[in-house]
Amino acid sequence: MENKTVYLNGQYLPLNEAKVSVLDRGFLFGDGIYEVIPSYSGHLFHFQDHLQRLENSLAGIRLANPHTREQWQEIVSPLLDRNVDQYIYLQITRGVASKRDHAFPDNVPATVFVMCSNIVPFAGLNRGVKAISMDDTRWKFCNVKAITLLGNILHRQAAVDQGCAEALLVKDGYLIEGAASNVFAVIDGVLCTPPKGNDILPGITRDVILDLARKNNIPCSEDNIPFSALQEASEIWVTSSTREIIPVVELDSKMVFDGIPGPVWQAMNQIFQAYKQSLIMSEQTFFEFPCEFPVKAMGKAGMELDLLVIEIVRRHVPDVKDDAVTSRPSKDGNFIAITVIIEASSKKQLDAIYQDLTDHPDILMAL
Ligand SMILES: Cc1ncc(COP(=O)(O)O)c(C=O)c1O
Repeated sequence: MENKTVYLNGQYLPLNEAKVSVLDRGFLFGDGIYEVIPSYSGHLFHFQDHLQRLENSLAGIRLANPHTREQWQEIVSPLLDRNVDQYIYLQITRGVASKRDHAFPDNVPATVFVMCSNIVPFAGLNRGVKAISMDDTRWKFCNVKAITLLGNILHRQAAVDQGCAEALLVKDGYLIEGAASNVFAVIDGVLCTPPKGNDILPGITRDVILDLARKNNIPCSEDNIPFSALQEASEIWVTSSTREIIPVVELDSKMVFDGIPGPVWQAMNQIFQAYKQSLIMSEQTFFEFPCEFPVKAMGKAGMELDLLVIEIVRRHVPDVKDDAVTSRPSKDGNFIAITVIIEASSKKQLDAIYQDLTDHPDILMAL
């Protein structure tokens, strides 16, 4: 077993030293929730959306969030590797109670576990995969990303037993989602996916695809899809954070259209890959943090611009010394340029300083 570093309840440990009690409610009852968050070259993909879903899942099982969003970022960051694509597995359970009892225990801290694994590109991507359909036998809160996954596991295993990659779940005659994925179908040229609600997990990949479809003028709809309508589908895809967008080319031993990945999938997959790349580039920085950084601002001469600039900078870097500030008048003396040397900790911090400086009416330019 790979002995990578993982996070458990405030500590970073080698995986084989990370242990939880057999009385943990995750172990006894599956009483917990989880998230899976991709990280491309160290850049977390739609992190805030994943944290929002984590908050929704916690609210769904009436468990308080043990950390703020900033704390989650701090917990996860040391586990990331910039050289590979990874996914973070983050699990929160209702903790260790002194006795086994279905009802919630009082004053028990949650168990928090986080680990990172490499994303292995999905082998069947360009050929497409086979799927089966099954009656959805899961519970009524499929919008909660609960660790209680027995229903999903049995569905997925049934697919695997039949040499298929995924089981497409059907409820009351309508297509719902995959055992571990959301589902899309191209019907009459429109990219369709079932609407959000208690029946499906609101996939982050699903939302990104819908957003990209709208921005790229690909007709799309979020509507109930009768299972029978799949007979007319020219394409079916399943989507998830770790597998991204996978074309289904055979369903219940029948070819989907001509049995090869279709043109809308080809287009969307390219758009999706380009979008991922653009996010990485937009977050890329040529600095290695922490580093010394000159913050520069310019305004009209004749006012105490140095005091204003240092006050704004101190909102983000409280320990800046007065002697870190220099000021220089322009040639004609009409303007003054202020430079503050700071110890910058992240690009986000620099962006926030820049934002506050440019928002102030007396600052004409900030660099
Ligand atoms: C049941 C189910 N639906 C949908 C998804 C896709 O969600 P996401 O795109 O956020 O990974 C998953 C992911 O594991 C899932 O388990």
